[in-house]
Amino acid sequence: MTWFLCICTFWLLMVMVLAQKNFNVLSTQKSFNVVPAQNFNQRTGLETSCLGSYMRLTVDKSLAFGNEVEFDAVNGSQIEPLTPSLAAKCGFRIDSDPWGNYKVFASLLNCFAGNEDDAVFDIDMRVRMRGVKAAQDVFEVEKTCNYDQWSPREVLCTRNYMEVSVNRLPEEITALRKQVMLPRSKKFGDQWSETVTEAITSRQNIWRMVFFTPKQKAMVLEDALRTGYSIATTRSRLVLRSGYDMPETYVENVNGVPMKVIKVTTYFKKEWSVTMLDTVAACPTGGLSFTDEMITWNFPRFNPLMSSRAASLLEVFMGIDGKQIDSLQMEARGYYLTIVDDLIVMKIPTGGPDGYYKSHAVNNQYHITYNIEPMLELLWSDGAMDTTRYKVLFPIQTPFMPRPPHVDDLTDVDQKMFDVLLGPFLNDIELVNITFSTEVLTVAEANARGINIQEQRFQNGSKAFRLQVPFSDSFVVITQVDVVVRVYTLGIIYGFMVLPEYTPFSYSSSVDVTLQDIILPTVRGSCDDEKFHIMISFGNLGKNFNIMIGTHDMTPDRKAEYGVKENNTHTSLAVPFLASDVVYELMYASSLRARIDVLLWDPSKKWTLSDFSLACNFPMTMTECFSNGTMSALAVKVESVPQLVPHQLTLRDPSCRPKFSNDHFAYFSFEANSCGTTRTFHDGVVTYQNEITLGNGLPVYQLSKGVPTASPDPEYRVTMSCSYTLNDTQTIAFFTKPRENEPMPETGFGELQVVLRLALDGSFNQFYVEEDYPVVKYLGSPLFFEVMLLQSTDPQIELVLENCWATLKEDRNSTPRWDLIVDGCVNLADGYETVFHPVDPNSIPFPMHVKHFEVKMFTFVENDVVLQDQIFVHCEAVLCDDSDGICKRHCPSPLPLKTGKKVRRETTNVQSQRVQLSSRKIMFSSS
Ligand SMILES: *[C@@H]1O[C@H](CO)[C@@H](O)[C@H](O)[C@H]1NC(C)=O
Ligand SMILES: *[C@@H]1O[C@H](CO)[C@@H](O)[C@H](O)[C@H]1NC(C)=O
Ligand SMILES: *[C@@H]1O[C@H](CO)[C@@H](O)[C@H](O)[C@H]1NC(C)=O
Ligand SMILES: *[C@@H]1O[C@H](CO)[C@@H](O)[C@H](O)[C@H]1NC(C)=O
Ligand SMILES: *[C@@H]1O[C@H](CO)[C@@H](O)[C@H](O)[C@H]1NC(C)=O
Ligand SMILES: *[C@@H]1O[C@H](CO)[C@@H](O)[C@H](O)[C@H]1NC(C)=O
Repeated sequence: MTWFLCICTFWLLMVMVLAQKNFNVLSTQKSFNVVPAQNFNQRTGLETSCLGSYMRLTVDKSLAFGNEVEFDAVNGSQIEPLTPSLAAKCGFRIDSDPWGNYKVFASLLNCFAGNEDDAVFDIDMRVRMRGVKAAQDVFEVEKTCNYDQWSPREVLCTRNYMEVSVNRLPEEITALRKQVMLPRSKKFGDQWSETVTEAITSRQNIWRMVFFTPKQKAMVLEDALRTGYSIATTRSRLVLRSGYDMPETYVENVNGVPMKVIKVTTYFKKEWSVTMLDTVAACPTGGLSFTDEMITWNFPRFNPLMSSRAASLLEVFMGIDGKQIDSLQMEARGYYLTIVDDLIVMKIPTGGPDGYYKSHAVNNQYHITYNIEPMLELLWSDGAMDTTRYKVLFPIQTPFMPRPPHVDDLTDVDQKMFDVLLGPFLNDIELVNITFSTEVLTVAEANARGINIQEQRFQNGSKAFRLQVPFSDSFVVITQVDVVVRVYTLGIIYGFMVLPEYTPFSYSSSVDVTLQDIILPTVRGSCDDEKFHIMISFGNLGKNFNIMIGTHDMTPDRKAEYGVKENNTHTSLAVPFLASDVVYELMYASSLRARIDVLLWDPSKKWTLSDFSLACNFPMTMTECFSNGTMSALAVKVESVPQLVPHQLTLRDPSCRPKFSNDHFAYFSFEANSCGTTRTFHDGVVTYQNEITLGNGLPVYQLSKGVPTASPDPEYRVTMSCSYTLNDTQTIAFFTKPRENEPMPETGFGELQVVLRLALDGSFNQFYVEEDYPVVKYLGSPLFFEVMLLQSTDPQIELVLENCWATLKEDRNSTPRWDLIVDGCVNLADGYETVFHPVDPNSIPFPMHVKHFEVKMFTFVENDVVLQDQIFVHCEAVLCDDSDGICKRHCPSPLPLKTGKKVRRETTNVQSQRVQLSSRKIMFSSS
């Protein structure tokens, strides 16, 4: 591919009729009304520099304060906003980095520059903060650049345009000029050709332009301008500027590097002369390769602008941001620029300070790129042809590098505070909002709500976002995973923006903390004689539980029954020990060991929160032994016999069933001589005994895996006994089937009434009553005494008088005393003869319960002096079985009466089981 610059002037052989055209004249000479810079000199944020064929203007971020910055070109008094299309057409390039630093490259040949002899260029611009109208936010920039080192051809490649300018004046390009002259007219001298060439290549003489795409396409100047090309002539140069996406450009692959080419031949025509200028620019659009550490940019050693491979490179420079750097600077930065075979190779380490990192959101993922704009500047000579100065300002952006942020969980469990650090991010990331479990908040809203959001900056300019949310915040989701363990979860979606283009992306994270921080409810209890008093203290979850008493949940009825009281922290209740929810562990003679089970459980998770049991002994009369021989007994269903049905219980006689029963109790009441009650006598004590069982020999059904199986062995037996002494009653023994370590029942006491009465006469039908005493009797007159067991209906009991005696004083143990009956027999030493009288079996229901005896009224004398005219009679009686030996005592025959004084006698036979009976005062009457 050869393409070379030439300016050719042809003689027109034909007379061409040219229509007079009104060209739009692009003024290359402008007269500027120079507006004094208002703030420019005071401001440090603006900097301009002349860098060869262009000017660079930088605007520091500190000037913009985050505002977007816009630029205007100033054309005399006219101000033209630099839109992207105007900038590309007129030779401006505007760039910014994420921090808000702006960079403008303005070609010295831009549409608006003031141009004096292609050597002094005045560029006026305005820098404007978008949206701010205040005058101080508009800065006037005036810069004058001197540049007269124009090569015959200068090519400038920037991101948004390609510019080529060529010398159009013959005298300045004589070295390369190839002049073709048609036969001279006699009218014109030798000077003609040069003059005419200068004149002919002025803009108004552009006759037509031929674009090579690479197919030829001819246009007139107006069409080319309308299409968007910029075509201008300065005093000595023809300037062509084109965007990369213009229709008449094309791509050419040069040594593996794609290049965009614009190639135009411009024909100037004046009268019979036509001059032709070739303008061509070729700018690379590729050639990059990347590793993580290195950017490699390949540029073809021989490019389409060179006429041949003979072109020799005179200068090769590297630059950054449009400015040449020297080898020392290159070395310091680690840049390489070499020529390898057919390529010029530039190597730039990723991450150097001349470039910058920028954030991107790609598929909602955080990525960064490294951006740098190297410059390649070449000067070559095309053999015999002219030199070309060639500059490429080549912005490079590395491929997207994913940088998933890291969540640093700094949560402080003691402070009960989620603390999450998310980063790192570049500075061009802004946290916009945060989506919590229930709400989306902006950063300001979140902070106002007590959520602490901070931006943390690192030394290298990166930053991270720190978020602190108390566990107690409603955004924290609490899940109870165990009876005492909760998981606190903070789910967050961060809403970010990439500045300045406001690309949104989000990042979801979730942190959780497992805490064993549940205080379970507790149960305490105590008992009085009637009730269990239960106090439930709620844990830290409040009343989140159900109460089960025994095996039943609390119902409204039970609440009322147990007097449930509740406030925010406690529930109290009082359960009577006879309540149906109470279970009985043991029966004692006079108490019942009862237990209440209180279970607190979580109704949703079915967790047991507290399991409480309290057992107490409650006083309770289990057996009563009445004097009339009636016995009552209570059988209690105890826990150890779960299958017991109280109403099935019987006494020994299975026909003796409970008088009353419910689920827990069976109440028996029966006569001592019935229901298989046994009686035993021991030492004057009569003991009745019966037992309550689950029927004699009747099987007890046990539930075993749902199938009833008969158990031949009654598991339940309550033995009760009533032990009677005279006036004393002993009661019951209880036990279920004997078990080890079980306390034996205690013994209770009762009484059995025996009376000693004085009858009016030997018929024993009438008796002296209280008011009759003291009874007065004559000496020797008979006293008829009756001793009788009251109330008892047991026909087999016999009341036996063991000892009877008389005393002078009321105290039964006083002296003097006189024995009347000794060991069940009349005192044979008694001259006053005590006589037992039989009891008429038909006169009363239980003759064995009665003893009659008679003594003659007597007095106590000492030394033949009557001591006092009164006596008291005392007896000791015992109960015995009518078949017992003690009752069948054989008394010796009465001895002949002795006369004389009564003899004192010691009595040793005093037993506690004996009933002590005493008469009231009996007076002696001598009249
Ligand atoms: C510059 O201003 C002049 C006169 O105001 C105008 O004719 C010319 O078209 C302007 N140039 C541009 C590029 O706008
Ligand atoms: C900046 O520093 C932070 C913290 O030291 C680090 O995580 C991050 O990778 C650094 N960023 C760059 C671009 O070096
Ligand atoms: C939150 O921010 C993200 C990212 O900037 C945005 O896409 C989203 O619409 C925002 N949500 C709300 C509710 O404002
Ligand atoms: C709730 O009741 C308990 C026990 O009766 C009592 O100690 C506590 O002070 C009460 N609390 C309130 C807030 O009334
Ligand atoms: C015995 O006395 C008790 C209590 O006074 C009474 O309930 C019961 O009926 C009496 N028994 C007889 C047989 O009179
Ligand atoms: C029976 O015994 C009690 C004391 O155990 C006594 O108070 C009461 O008087 C006695 N009754 C008779 C009739 O002796």
